[in-house]
Amino acid sequence: MYTFPIQKLNEVETPFYYYNMQLLDDTLNVIKQEAEKYRYHIHYAVKANANKRILERINTYGFGADCVSGNEVLASLDAGFTGSKVVFAGVGKADKEIIIGLENDIACFNVESIPELEVIDEIAGRMSKTAKVALRINPNVKADTHKYITTGLEENKFGINLWDLEKVLDKVEELNNIEFVGIHFHIGSQITDLISFQMLCNRINELQELFVKRRNIPKIINVGGGLGINYENPDKNPMPDFEAFFKVFDEFLELKEGQEVHFELGRSVVGQCGTLLSKVLYIKEGVNTSFAIIDAGMSDLIRPALYQAYHKIENLVSQLEEEKYDVVGPICESSDCFGKAVSLPKTVRGDLMAIRSAGAYGEVMASQYNLRTLPKAVYSDEI
Ligand code: LLP
Repeated sequence: MYTFPIQKLNEVETPFYYYNMQLLDDTLNVIKQEAEKYRYHIHYAVKANANKRILERINTYGFGADCVSGNEVLASLDAGFTGSKVVFAGVGKADKEIIIGLENDIACFNVESIPELEVIDEIAGRMSKTAKVALRINPNVKADTHKYITTGLEENKFGINLWDLEKVLDKVEELNNIEFVGIHFHIGSQITDLISFQMLCNRINELQELFVKRRNIPKIINVGGGLGINYENPDKNPMPDFEAFFKVFDEFLELKEGQEVHFELGRSVVGQCGTLLSKVLYIKEGVNTSFAIIDAGMSDLIRPALYQAYHKIENLVSQLEEEKYDVVGPICESSDCFGKAVSLPKTVRGDLMAIRSAGAYGEVMASQYNLRTLPKAVYSDEI
């Protein structure tokens, strides 16, 4: 059980993100151990949390970095990742971002369209470089998750649709400054039912026939990220079942000789190690409910407002009888609500509250809306 150093945390000005570095280390160790069984390559999806200390720590485990902007590429390099371990994805890479990738000899651009291929080819030519590319293919596999974070269906903006693939491959073969190294997929995020990944494997197996037919076998099969975490019960499930996850790919993915399998895990790496800490400002009696108004808002953690996401909320200091509260932030938006009718021990002004499982897509999605100060980060090994 990973506990909070409540006394110390109580002295820090709220709101802030607290990272349990021990849990991060334990998670990274398990991922490393389970992935090594099959020689799988892991690229951490920087978008989940680009905090420098977290990136530095992840780099020490020998993983690569999966980036979706020029600045993420730079942040990864700055945290110690070498260019050869950086992949760069995203549906809209700007010219200057492509240049950053080429200058730093990154492992691969994940490319999503013919126009993008042409632009990368042109820029690489100008810079006398060869751009390594993987094609992001839309596998049309449905992931059972929130509609904002499913990505692998034909109606999404992501990836090359299956019926366009031959055309794109013709293009790749025609361009001089492009080297085709792999194929890339990502079906969505916060996926807890492993059957979706099994379906992805089946789809990839079917697709491989096309590459065999064309005698152009991709070296890398990048299956993306998406493994979910348990938001309901973070103490009982501090990390996902990585063993079962990798096993699905071992069991169902049929590889050709020399092929490598790559993963881009984000949420499953950092989700549970982060907590948003906040103090209660006021208790306000409403018509039917009491509101616990806390000093963290949707500007600090936007997931509940944006995706109706559930985050477990705890009062870390009270041990009184339970009551029900709507836990809301100070921002001038009705959606600035972390939870409705939440059972909490009787809560008063000044109580320290924990909003759990906020390590992924928390701090990194914070904004200054209402001109608020960005939340700071505190680490378990520094406090
Ligand atoms: N690879 C690609 C191509 C992706 O688009 C994503 C996430 C990942 C990897 C990492 O996925 P993960 O392992 O973290 O599921 N802000 C949303 C999640 C957006 C996910 C975007 N793509 C949230 O807070 O739930």
